[in-house]
Amino acid sequence: MDFPALGNTSVIGLQWGDEGKGKIVDLLTEHFDVVVRYAGGANAGHTVRVGNEKFALHLMPSGILRPGVRNIIGPGVALDLEVLLTEIDGLRARGVEIGSNLLVSRRAHLVMPYHKKQDRLGEERLGAARKIGTTAKGIGPCYADKALRTTALRVTDLYYPADFRARVAEIVADRNRVFAALYGDGDPLDAAAIADRWLGYAERLRPHVNDTTLTLNEAIAEGRRILFEGAQGSLLDITHGTFPFVTSSTCTAAGVAAGAGVPPAAVRSYVGVMKAYCTRVGSGPFPTELSDATGGLIRERGHEYGTTTGRPRRCGWFDAFATRYSALLGGITQAAVMHLDTLSTVGDLKVCTGYRVNGELLKTFPADIRELESALPEYETLPGWREDISGATSFEMLPAAARNYIDRLEELLGIPITIVSIGAERTATLHRKSRLGEGRAASNTPRKAGG
Ligand code: IMO
Ligand code: MG
Repeated sequence: MDFPALGNTSVIGLQWGDEGKGKIVDLLTEHFDVVVRYAGGANAGHTVRVGNEKFALHLMPSGILRPGVRNIIGPGVALDLEVLLTEIDGLRARGVEIGSNLLVSRRAHLVMPYHKKQDRLGEERLGAARKIGTTAKGIGPCYADKALRTTALRVTDLYYPADFRARVAEIVADRNRVFAALYGDGDPLDAAAIADRWLGYAERLRPHVNDTTLTLNEAIAEGRRILFEGAQGSLLDITHGTFPFVTSSTCTAAGVAAGAGVPPAAVRSYVGVMKAYCTRVGSGPFPTELSDATGGLIRERGHEYGTTTGRPRRCGWFDAFATRYSALLGGITQAAVMHLDTLSTVGDLKVCTGYRVNGELLKTFPADIRELESALPEYETLPGWREDISGATSFEMLPAAARNYIDRLEELLGIPITIVSIGAERTATLHRKSRLGEGRAASNTPRKAGG
């Protein structure tokens, strides 16, 4: 991948999150001046390994680990100030400098304690069979308030303390009534205490607060290179994902410009990130899920436990049908396949090329959750490999079966695969010459895939 030639670039997850976006952002950051988080919030968990050190970032853009890079938390983010300030303290304690290299949009919406409480109580009420399996970070309730408008609070509101106190008092009083009436909750929230705490956070945040929309567009005009750090994954997109088992933001490419506050044409490349298999946390259909020993083997080999919640991730075969749909929505110009090393020793590998519902092969990814739940994956089987590939230093060094696996994924998806990751470290990254040619956008015609 010719990084500098990419222009302003966005990194987009093509599955259900946790694809390894943090590592790709970290690799790319070297070639960029600004890194922007533009959607989602502390539900994200981006792991970056630098040398022997591992950093798990939730709200902080991954560019914070590269000196000289400016980091922006954009208007589209659901901002949990407790998480952000804890992250700042934790990073500083480990020697990471945080000052004018971090800017936070005045337009970002605040995740408040009642959002997290609503998230938890709502899920409990739905029960195991119907809950979404959220990260309980208050993301859905915060974005719901944003859409409702009258009950939303933004960063800018923190700097009008009298108004802020009054708004919090009003909102919390209403929420306490709802929590008691609907969920039988007997532990009302203390509005004054919440307002005090948040106004205290406001002082710590003050040096970072900025009209990031102006700053970012000025940076673009000056020719600075901008990297947009996607959170979640396309199949979790509020509109296009496996609704209702999705998150509450636009995590496809369309969310970048809206969430960051830049013209869509300012973003030139979309780098898609996917694992060499699939994972999902939380509830919702997952046609290629493996509930057997192979799924367990992938989980252990890939350390598939949530960065944000510690939950074991559900694991399954690579789903080319679903990923093609994501690539189509993403306008993906090139892609990275992560965790190829995890598949060593797994045996023969299956790849889903289509779904069958009621005996019919589907033409498009189903809109209806009932259809998705009953979908039977059509598989093709590819030979696996037994060698440990984690020491490879070029794509050509990989065993033929591993190269063939990547070649086939590229063929099925119709997007150039230019990066193959074989370990968590920056160095465990192979560059691959695509057979499709670099920089080609996803086409509408599948290559023998089912969709
Ligand atoms: P990163 O950026 C994986 C999932 C949750 C749940 C659903 C809704 O690390 O890839 P929410 O708390 O957002 O209301 O939960 O979305 N989810 C993620 N899964 N990685 C993420 O982020 C996720 N963010 C949300 O598990 O199924
Ligand atoms: Mg995650």
